[in-house]
Amino acid sequence: MPDGLKGRQIILAGGSGGLGSATARLLAREPVRLIVSYRSNRDRAISLSPLAAITQADLASAEDRKRLLDEAPELYGLVVFSGDPARVSNPAELEEAMRRSHEVNYLGPVLLAREAAGRMKNSGTPGAIVLVATMQALALFPGSTAYAAQKAALVQAARILAKECRGPSNIRVNVVSPGVMQAGMAEASIRSGKYDSYISGGAISRFGRAEDIARAVRLLLEPDSYITGQVLAVDGGMTL
Ligand SMILES: NC(=O)c1ccc[n+]([C@@H]2O[C@H](COP(=O)([O-])OP(=O)(O)OC[C@H]3O[C@@H](n4cnc5c(N)ncnc54)[C@H](OP(=O)(O)O)[C@@H]3O)[C@@H](O)[C@H]2O)c1
Repeated sequence: MPDGLKGRQIILAGGSGGLGSATARLLAREPVRLIVSYRSNRDRAISLSPLAAITQADLASAEDRKRLLDEAPELYGLVVFSGDPARVSNPAELEEAMRRSHEVNYLGPVLLAREAAGRMKNSGTPGAIVLVATMQALALFPGSTAYAAQKAALVQAARILAKECRGPSNIRVNVVSPGVMQAGMAEASIRSGKYDSYISGGAISRFGRAEDIARAVRLLLEPDSYITGQVLAVDGGMTL
């Protein structure tokens, strides 16, 4: 479309991290109105301030979610990046990791998406919502119970919301499911060589780049898009 995202108000929730900041940089090539939220790492978030309004919000808090949405009265797009790998090194930590994962990887993102969709419906504004899952929600990776199960639930909740929003309200809801990306929470593990066998074993040709995710998000934000209720795996074939 000729005007693309021009003038659109878009929130990148938890968008200060590796994948979110690349998306902010890509979207800021157009005249969009971006709001990037972070939870705790203010310094990292502030580095994006030339591109976006920056705000603190813990998505686990209903008050913070409301405040974040209040900052975008003409909201068109919401992309929820917030997440936690919920790594468990000791089996005794599993229960606590599962509880934390439920809050960060499922509850906060899903409630924010539903609250945003409710506001779009009430104001009669079409919109686009993108949630970020993981390859571990689509295929089985031993050791990923705490993380993957909540992300799989997130995928199902996104598709339910997409069905609830289809039709005249024209609010589209989709999921991007990254593979092993050379940014954000996987960066240190990649540097340590933990995932080298995915390449040497032939599953993928290279690790993903944050820009691969940014381009997928941009596609799903396109105002004239006909895509809703879909899960777009951006993983180089990892989950095939
Ligand atoms: N990188 C990968 O290879 C990869 C692969 C698959 C899926 N993913 C998914 O992609 C998304 C982005 O990951 P990333 O690699 O960019 O991670 P990241 O660099 O660690 O960024 C995570 C972001 O989430 C925010 N956050 C965490 N908990 C939050 C909460 N309760 N409320 C609000 N914000 C919260 C963080 O804010 P603060 O830093 O300020 O706390 C940060 O902005 C995540 O959902 C992750 O599960 C990543």
